Amino acid sequence: MSRVAGVKGMNDLLPPDSAAWEHLESIVRSLCHRYGYRELRTPVLEDTALFVRSVGEATDIVGKEMYTFEDKAGRSLSLRPEGTAPAARAYIEHAVANREPVTRWFYMGPMFRYERMKTGRYRQFHQLGLEGYGAEEPAVEVEQMELVVELLRGLGLRDITLHINSLGDEACRPAFQASLVGYLRDHRESLCADCQVRLEKNPLRVLDCKNPGCQQVAAGAPSILDALCPDCEAHFAEVQRKLTLLEIPFKVDARIMRGLDYYTRTTFEFIAADPVLGTASTVGGGGRYDRLIKQLGGPQTPAVGLALGLERLVLLMEAGGSAHVKAPDLFVVTAEPVAADPAFTWVSRLRRAGVAVEFDPRGGSLKSQLKRADKSGATWALVLGGAELESGQAALKPLRGGEPEPVRLDDLAEVLRAKRTRTG
Ligand code: HAM
Repeated sequence: MSRVAGVKGMNDLLPPDSAAWEHLESIVRSLCHRYGYRELRTPVLEDTALFVRSVGEATDIVGKEMYTFEDKAGRSLSLRPEGTAPAARAYIEHAVANREPVTRWFYMGPMFRYERMKTGRYRQFHQLGLEGYGAEEPAVEVEQMELVVELLRGLGLRDITLHINSLGDEACRPAFQASLVGYLRDHRESLCADCQVRLEKNPLRVLDCKNPGCQQVAAGAPSILDALCPDCEAHFAEVQRKLTLLEIPFKVDARIMRGLDYYTRTTFEFIAADPVLGTASTVGGGGRYDRLIKQLGGPQTPAVGLALGLERLVLLMEAGGSAHVKAPDLFVVTAEPVAADPAFTWVSRLRRAGVAVEFDPRGGSLKSQLKRADKSGATWALVLGGAELESGQAALKPLRGGEPEPVRLDDLAEVLRAKRTRTG
């Protein structure tokens, strides 16, 4: 029979590789707690119109990359390509603004984009997202950037630079956009085919196109930072002052346009220098979107957020040589068939007492069980036969070097817990 394969661009995650993810997720959860961000979970499917109205019809994400289909009742649904629009929908639908003036949410989960695959770019990928609602003060974007800096530090990742920019707002962006379009039209022949279309539909995106010809044109283009209105300029200056106050290094980079339509004012990206990511070097990005909640039918609510690509972080963790293993404390070996039931009972007692214990349910020879104990990565092995069960004494055999230690079976859980605390 022919086999059915997994969907292209959507990866399985198997042990032991899942250990790095667990490590990453546990650091994320504790950091979000420290910074006051509470977890939001929304469905992976949404009404297609939500993304069209927020991310924007002319963006690559909505125009080319969404998984969209009709359900049995003929509604157009899409697998979420990102988490900001679903979070905004939930914020409005549950009238969260009436409950609290400032809201801080985080989410972790799969997103879906039909993209050309390469290292660090998949069709199902995972994001950590942060969204903050209700405050227009730059303190919110700065605290989110700081949380990311702390996360990267906790993961031992260096050489990731924070690039910041401002896209202005409805007061200053239209005039800038008009002057940009004028400039780009004069250089139309030097732009790639995609950018010739973008020039009319989404001109800001031409400025962060990776094509060398477009980059050359972008280098001579007018800068948004020269066109900011006084309010946007003051906001951007305050973002920089606060970053400096917290001693967070950053680079002002007028090319950080982002690929989504909802941004106003501050935008930013974290870009990794490690070549392991190739051209997928942006580990995360975000910005302010002070108009989106209203645009989706909610009350006027300032908002700012970001998302990090978790696959990209894991690739960097692996390239940096950080290994994460989840191994049992103890592997119980049954020396003879008569010991099978008592050994099974000991395994259960130890597990209930908080010790991570494995054993081979198939039994087998002593040699083969010890081999499996070694392969399991366990710290200790315990051989149980008739003699041990009768005397209540056994030998705790270290599997990573060292001498066996005698131990009373009744003390085993406590001894192992104490050893685990000592070795950290
Ligand atoms: P984004 O820049 O589209 O922003 O995605 C954020 C991050 O998700 C990227 O920097 C990248 O690390 C990762 N990512 C994106 N596409 C893929 C892919 N195909 N494969 C692997 N990783 C990928 C947003 O999604 C916004 N919602 C961020 C935001 C939140 N803005 C405000 N709040």
